Amino acid sequence: MPKFYQELLALAQSDAAAIQIVSHEWERVRGFVAGLSRDLDIPARVWSLSRGVADLDEEAQVGQPDPSQSDPQEVLKSHCEDKKPAILLMEDAHHFYLASDRRHEVARWLRETARLRGSPRKLLILSGPVPGLPPETVKEIPALDVPLPDQEDLKEVCLSVAQEQAVECDPVEPLLEAARGLTVMEARLAFARAAHEKGRLGPEAIPLVAQEKSRVIKQSGVLEYFEPNATMRDVGGLDNLKAWLDRRGRGFGHGAREHGLEPPRGIVLLGIQGCGKSLIAKSVAAAWQFPLLRFDLGRVFGGVVGQSEGNMRLALQVAEALAPCVLWIDEIEKGLSGMGSSDQLDAGVSARVGGTLLTWMQEKTAPVFTVATANRIEALPPELLRKGRFDEIFFVDLPTADARKEILSIHLSKKKRTPKDFELDRLAQESLGFSGAELEEAVREALFESFAEGKEVTTEHIARAIKATYPLSRTMRDQITQLREWSLARARRASSQEPEPLPQDTGGPVPILRQEQRNPFVPRTSAAGTEDRGERRK
Ligand SMILES: Nc1ncnc2c1ncn2[C@@H]1O[C@H](COP(=O)(O)OP(=O)(O)OP(=O)(O)O)[C@@H](O)[C@H]1O
Ligand SMILES: [Mg+2]
Repeated sequence: MPKFYQELLALAQSDAAAIQIVSHEWERVRGFVAGLSRDLDIPARVWSLSRGVADLDEEAQVGQPDPSQSDPQEVLKSHCEDKKPAILLMEDAHHFYLASDRRHEVARWLRETARLRGSPRKLLILSGPVPGLPPETVKEIPALDVPLPDQEDLKEVCLSVAQEQAVECDPVEPLLEAARGLTVMEARLAFARAAHEKGRLGPEAIPLVAQEKSRVIKQSGVLEYFEPNATMRDVGGLDNLKAWLDRRGRGFGHGAREHGLEPPRGIVLLGIQGCGKSLIAKSVAAAWQFPLLRFDLGRVFGGVVGQSEGNMRLALQVAEALAPCVLWIDEIEKGLSGMGSSDQLDAGVSARVGGTLLTWMQEKTAPVFTVATANRIEALPPELLRKGRFDEIFFVDLPTADARKEILSIHLSKKKRTPKDFELDRLAQESLGFSGAELEEAVREALFESFAEGKEVTTEHIARAIKATYPLSRTMRDQITQLREWSLARARRASSQEPEPLPQDTGGPVPILRQEQRNPFVPRTSAAGTEDRGERRK
């Protein structure tokens, strides 16, 4: 018996008169309700706005609907007043009790229903994808989340699809694993598509199912499923952080639990733009061979009432279903301070959604390793940094000379050049204050230049590209100094080397960044047209 169903049955047997089940999976919920009907020996009916009320048999098949019973308030009233025992499943009634102009009446009837006790035995199940109940019923109606299907459930789905499509089935573990994180209905579609294309459901179907999963997860709008394409060898510098990850990664390995180790929970990477925070998130997933999920917190907010909370819970459920995995939350400060979308929001929603995330981080038992990145400390809520949510906070500073050498040689090797052919010491000296991203860009620029000259790229080309770049660390001196000071007492350094002093700002001309350049198609007056095109005085 599935664990979720056991929990539901126990609640139903303990006399609850109303239960809410939050799930997108109406088919599974109907299955559970049919199970309750059998185990409690009480007939079940299902209501939806489109069809009215209909009987639900023990195989979860729906009988002839009675469209005259479509008004939710009337349906609740007759459920309360009827003299016979009954289970009533109401699908998508949240439209009425959360946000309609009739929510007060419907909420009142929900309350009446939740208080029914004794005989005749009555049970109301509210089901729908959106969490939330009217405040007056929160204490009276227990809410349950249906976890996404596990491997056993997925095996059932796979076998039943194979039977329907009359194809051979070999439900090997990697195939079921590829479908983890999908709902039953999504998994059914993915298996059906693979069965149709391959004529068989076995190892050959894995890439198709994995592809379908990545599409479905992306469609949720909040999570993105990544094939990690970077390794630790692609990361220059950051030796402390890499060593920590290597040591802690063993906490997921065989024998770790028996040794008394807890699986690591996650890290916060705080730091300067372009210094490898996102790169680390990708490479840690590859190093541990975990799937990588990118969580866009900013996109959690929106839609109808309750949807933001629903999005957040769904995302966390998917992450748990995919565990062990790496959950990468970029710019966590934006999501948690409700920035970017707070105009249309009441503060309550962002607080609740942020609270759900923080509680989950504290309480999660599934091995989900969270990598949260942040650039701005002042926007970080202090409770995020409290111990217990993350294992460690790392400060990712600008690379030192040694790290710059390493980063240059990584990017030269990626372009199939031999790093030994270049004067890396000199280039590292000349690029003081450069971020990894700026060094990568200098290599790219040098390749363009040398190609235009019809020559092979040399140290000179890179040196010129470095000279022509105005690194962010010159314009952001104050912010970087502040960030360094702040993190001194609060975070661990990602690199074992002392940070170098920031480059002196010489007060010379500030080159115009590419994104600041003028659009040449905008008509200008002659005065404006005579301005310098390439440079701007400070
Ligand atoms: N330490 C590094 N080693 C090698 N390459 C690096 C390093 N840091 C940055 N890069 C290069 O710069 C690119 C951008 O870096 P990344 O996206 O990891 O920066 P970030 O710290 O996440 O910046 P942001 O705060 O803007 O998100 C990387 O894809 C990589 O090619
Ligand atoms: Mg990043």
